[in-house]
Amino acid sequence: MPLPPRRIGILTGGGDAPGLNAVIRAVVRSATTASIECIGIEDSFDGLMFPGRTRRLTVADVTGIHRVGGTILGTTNRGNPFAYPQRDSDTPLDYSARVLENVNALGLAALVVIGGDGTLAIAHEFQKRGVPIVGVPKTIDNDIVETTMTFGFDTAVAFATEAIDRLHATAHAHHRIMVVEVMGRYSGWIALYSAIAGGADAALIPEIPFDLSRVAAHINARELLGARSSIVVAAEGAAPVGGQRLVVTPTRPGLPERLGGIAERVSRDLDPLTEKETRHVVLGHLQRGGSPLAFDRVLATRFGSYAVDLVQRRRFGVMVALRSDRIVEVPLEMVVGRSRPIPLDSDVLQVARNMGMCLGD
Ligand code: F6P
Repeated sequence: MPLPPRRIGILTGGGDAPGLNAVIRAVVRSATTASIECIGIEDSFDGLMFPGRTRRLTVADVTGIHRVGGTILGTTNRGNPFAYPQRDSDTPLDYSARVLENVNALGLAALVVIGGDGTLAIAHEFQKRGVPIVGVPKTIDNDIVETTMTFGFDTAVAFATEAIDRLHATAHAHHRIMVVEVMGRYSGWIALYSAIAGGADAALIPEIPFDLSRVAAHINARELLGARSSIVVAAEGAAPVGGQRLVVTPTRPGLPERLGGIAERVSRDLDPLTEKETRHVVLGHLQRGGSPLAFDRVLATRFGSYAVDLVQRRRFGVMVALRSDRIVEVPLEMVVGRSRPIPLDSDVLQVARNMGMCLGD
């Protein structure tokens, strides 16, 4: 019988999402209950590449953090150890050997990796090189496969919904069209859910290329029926029929593709088609900050607790996931390299159409 695990590492990678700290707290508390020591690794895998970036986490260190946004460990979305960007050169270097050495030097029986598809793909590569990995899916975008939901999504949708509620008031007062840009990368989950929750009149999502003349016709028809204002939710990854999604020019090499600008473009082009004053708002990173809502706190806590359970049962190379109302494990290889757009036969899309929402097609 192998000895029970004594010490595990935990890191957070990729963009922050409300609920990350709740996972960290759940891992530390559950591990402590099981007499396992936790080592917090700072700034994703950076903390295993550079010295002095790890620290012991006790229950005292995580007291009350489930209420707080961000991550107490820090994060990055540009620190792939297999291709680490260099300040003075365009050629990235492979620092993966350093990570393997440090995992051994720290005596980690397992590494709990909380991240999105990019971070989980890196974790999977280390699993293949012998590091026992338990992954925890994280993203406000809700685009990770094999899990019904990720923590952070509900809080981000609630924030976007409140923004739409506020925009209704000012749009109504000024008889304007307001176009609001939400995050979500290549999936329209945040856009569709917040558009339904906020009662938007149109939602433009990456899964359905849009034709702006259809959106304008929808808004003009509403006008004829007496509605003098309209709200359009645009996912940052939405693109017109036959066109490309809009990306922001990178400020330095090695950064992941950054989406943005669709609300401004849609606003500019809708104005002449409707002859109504049209303004745009970009919610941006406001969607990621703030205190996680109860649903995300509970999901994050369940994920963290189950991750420690998997460590104790030596179930490695897996990701915790929500299936229906149960927490389960899925092999990492079933997750990496895939993403989860809204299925075109989703009932949620049909609900939006039934409610009279224009989806740009
Ligand atoms: O994946 C989460 C997310 O917030 C996306 O919705 C968005 O496209 C991206 O991260 C933005 O990343 P950054 O913080 O690097 O601008």
